[in-house]
Amino acid sequence: MQVDYPTLAKTIAALIEGERDEVALMATLVCELHHSDDRFDWTGFYRVTAPGLLKIGPYQGGHGCLQIPFDKGVCGAAARTGEVQLVPDVEAFPGHIACASSTRSELVLPVWNRAEELIAVLDIDSDQPDAFMETDAEELAKILAATFQR
Ligand code: SME
Repeated sequence: MQVDYPTLAKTIAALIEGERDEVALMATLVCELHHSDDRFDWTGFYRVTAPGLLKIGPYQGGHGCLQIPFDKGVCGAAARTGEVQLVPDVEAFPGHIACASSTRSELVLPVWNRAEELIAVLDIDSDQPDAFMETDAEELAKILAATFQR
């Protein structure tokens, strides 16, 4: 099963209508996303809770580590640079944090609010190598903007 982004975007838009609470939005988005595609084995948010620090937010999959400093891992790199991290092979990424040894590839997007502040990163991990494409990053960025920048 591969995600149908236009349908997913419509479903999420309908579910979150009128909602502004960030955790409620994250929880809803993660649930819809996680079950939409067989490539997504861990789907979750890490929230910026202090300068230079990410803490676990809503997620689905096995347990994730509780905190990630901006200078660690793929999530930290996305938070530090503000750029999408598309990692086809996690073993080739220096400093990758292995929460699950089954993870082979990873896609992490920065999440901005309406004031253009970085509030979180969205981390999707796959047990398949090279699971993610540029189009995934583009479509997910659109969904994040539609959710958190309203
Ligand atoms: N792999 C991530 C850590 C988070 S977990 O995999 C849930 C990273 O290197 O940032």
